[in-house]
Amino acid sequence: MLRETIAIGADHAGYALKAVLAADLGKMGYGVLDLGTNSEVSVDYPDFGFAVADAVTSGRAERGILVCGTGIGMAIAANRDPGIRAALCTGGLMARLAREHNDANVLALGSRIIGVEVARECVRQFLSTSYGGGRHADRVAKLSHPEIEAVE
Ligand code: RB5
Repeated sequence: MLRETIAIGADHAGYALKAVLAADLGKMGYGVLDLGTNSEVSVDYPDFGFAVADAVTSGRAERGILVCGTGIGMAIAANRDPGIRAALCTGGLMARLAREHNDANVLALGSRIIGVEVARECVRQFLSTSYGGGRHADRVAKLSHPEIEAVE
């Protein structure tokens, strides 16, 4: 049975790592919506960040993964969509807590910052960790509705 669909995108700096992660996702049984780029020819990371964000908010994918040189540009781009909670992660603990505390729906990775095995661990944690809800719920809701009263 096919697991959820993951949208994945990268710029030229993230292309090689994206290829590795996309292949892993397929082997793990996820549907893979690969939105490019598909070579190391220079491109603009916002185009791919926006494309993955749109795939998630439109429901074509349940979650997304973005890779650029640092992960920073991709996270900024994806987070411009109000339905996206993109988390730039440099290790498995960050990826786990991004899901547990922040209900992150996009994982952003930097191919020039972390190695392949750390990236794989980030992906594993991101995909296998459930959102904790509870005390985090009001805070996550407030990300979409800043007018909500502060909680103590
Ligand atoms: C491309 O050289 C680089 O700027 C990009 O991959 C990313 O790191 C931007 O945040």
